[in-house]
Amino acid sequence: MRKIFLITLTFLLILSFSAIAHADEIKIGACIYRFNDAFMLRFRNAMSAESEKLGAKIEIVDGRDDPTTQNEQIDNFITAGVNVLIINPVDRMAAQPMIDKAKAANIPVVFINREPTEEMLASYEKAYYIGAKAEESGTEAGELIAEYFKAHPEADKNHDGKLQFVLLKGQNGHQDMILRSKYSVEAIKNAGIEPVELASAIANWDKLQAMQIMNAFTMALGPENIEAVIANNDEMALGAIEALKNSDYNKGDKDFYIPVVGVDANASALDAMDKGEMLGTVLNDADNQGTAAVRLANALASGKDIKAIGYEITDNKYIWIPYQKVTRGENK
Ligand code: GAL
Ligand code: CA
Repeated sequence: MRKIFLITLTFLLILSFSAIAHADEIKIGACIYRFNDAFMLRFRNAMSAESEKLGAKIEIVDGRDDPTTQNEQIDNFITAGVNVLIINPVDRMAAQPMIDKAKAANIPVVFINREPTEEMLASYEKAYYIGAKAEESGTEAGELIAEYFKAHPEADKNHDGKLQFVLLKGQNGHQDMILRSKYSVEAIKNAGIEPVELASAIANWDKLQAMQIMNAFTMALGPENIEAVIANNDEMALGAIEALKNSDYNKGDKDFYIPVVGVDANASALDAMDKGEMLGTVLNDADNQGTAAVRLANALASGKDIKAIGYEITDNKYIWIPYQKVTRGENK
């Protein structure tokens, strides 16, 4: 009898302890613009791993690239009583109502990957942004092309000293689309080479769309007249490479090669670089961005010192994770 009593008591104690632990557990609600995105998959994995390490509970939902869906998801998280929100907005220019909602519920909000304006972030002292400086990736991608062009005189196919390129852009309005496009061309100029844009189009970060567009470009322009392909991300770079292969380019023959650059350093792009199909990319550091997002969210929600999370916070609003050029062997 006494033994049963003791066992029951121990059992009850364990139960109540786990109930306490449960009540203390930080709940993070994370909204991703779209799950079907290779870079955001790396980002999600990093967030899950860090949450697990910190013993926080994270729920990550798929906005399916639809602002209405995403707004409902934010409302649901707030109603469910999450302690903090991480938001990768479908439309970064529509972040203000999200901030207003979080503020009304007194829930901190950490934006990732798609940057709200300074004014928006300033409207709530518990609103933050974690990302990478878009202009940096543009500059680095442009430098990769310029370095190649200088090291390989044969890359100037029409011998006019200028660099004839095509540009594949990400989603409209995204800071990474606007600034990568601008700064990659700028970097070519700064390297002393005159860039000539033959064609450009929006391919929405998407491999298939990029492939179709690039097929049309090679058809209209002739692949022999294209001296470089600049893509705002790796998926579009890989789509372009598929299209080039359809024209028997970038299959290993040096005489039929067009340098292609992307951004992200996804595994599939590194593979293409190893095979000599792609010139280079720029590391978009999903691991550090995801880790920083969860550490900041966790510290904000639990009232811990956000200066102690291991990432520098700028202007009490931003965490910037640096980009890094990635090339392989003789491309340099
Ligand atoms: C960019 C990334 C793209 C895409 C986009 C989504 O930073 O380079 O591949 O994931 O974010 O917002
Ligand atoms: Ca030329």
